[in-house]
Amino acid sequence: MAVGVLDGKVAVVTGAGRGIGREIALDFARAGASVVVNDLGAAADGSGAGRVADEVVAEIRGAGGEAVANYDTVATVAGGEAIFGTAIETFGALDILVNNAGILRDRTIFKMTEEDWDGVMTVHLKGHFCCTAPFARYLREHDRRGARILNFSSVSGLFGNFGQSNYGAAKAGIAGFSRVLALELTKYGCTVNTISPGAATRLTIPLLEGRGESVSEEDWTRSPAQIAPLCTWLASDTARSITGQIFNVMRGTIGIMQQPAVIRSFQAARPWSLEDLDRIMPELMSAKQANDERAKRDGTPEKL
Ligand SMILES: NC(=O)c1ccc[n+]([C@@H]2O[C@H](COP(=O)([O-])OP(=O)(O)OC[C@H]3O[C@@H](n4cnc5c(N)ncnc54)[C@H](O)[C@@H]3O)[C@@H](O)[C@H]2O)c1
Repeated sequence: MAVGVLDGKVAVVTGAGRGIGREIALDFARAGASVVVNDLGAAADGSGAGRVADEVVAEIRGAGGEAVANYDTVATVAGGEAIFGTAIETFGALDILVNNAGILRDRTIFKMTEEDWDGVMTVHLKGHFCCTAPFARYLREHDRRGARILNFSSVSGLFGNFGQSNYGAAKAGIAGFSRVLALELTKYGCTVNTISPGAATRLTIPLLEGRGESVSEEDWTRSPAQIAPLCTWLASDTARSITGQIFNVMRGTIGIMQQPAVIRSFQAARPWSLEDLDRIMPELMSAKQANDERAKRDGTPEKL
């Protein structure tokens, strides 16, 4: 294999048996990384288990790359440690962690059960913690520099999406988790960035078809493969100074997202009265509207 931007690096990609994770694992291997292809092999709602990871490992090895399968769940501390352990036992190190594994249990709040809530929160939000904690401890203990963490959020959590309060809460939580992690790991030279992807996979095809959109397999702007180059670039040494950011990648576009920020504020000289709020609230709301309009205008994709 030719020397690539991830040559000599070891990566874990969770949920890499299919969809977006699979494409990231393949691209990392093409770029020279040794890859732990983790996948529980679950159904889209998280039930069941299987060995889809084997197919991706075979594909990587068939192309001359290095990969090993891991079938543990990201949703437990023991699972996260076992995934990390596979990297150390097989390749002797770990440099890159992509927290990509995910499931959906869509319901409106009126019908959502405790299992729907807990299942999604556990795989997504707790899953990020379970896989990240052993890696972070390892980076500190071994003073291993140049590490990368890529976390997976969603427009569902960053903008909101009807029928996904469990998923949206988990995905917004992941953005918050990433911001804190970026601060905590800076000292160890590890960057932490968040991806908000859009691609036609088994998780989204039913939603797209439900909206009357037909998705062609030939359309690269809908393919999960379009997410991988950004991940490879962010995992490379070139991206050493980029941390704490959220990148939106979908429909052939890549954008950087706004982070929570105070847009306009007022300072009171004494405790707030309701009359003060009557006065400032229109000012705050119009500042917010102007900011939203500016962001929408500035965020419109430019042709390369
Ligand atoms: N496809 C999109 O448009 C889209 C949009 C926003 C966010 N995302 C996020 O991107 C990520 C990848 O999604 P996808 O569309 O490729 O989905 P996918 O269903 O094609 O792939 C997800 C993989 O995760 C695995 N998985 C599920 N639970 C697991 C567990 N507990 N432990 C280990 N593996 C597990 C599944 O077996 C599956 O192979 C997810 O985090 C998803 O929420 C996707």
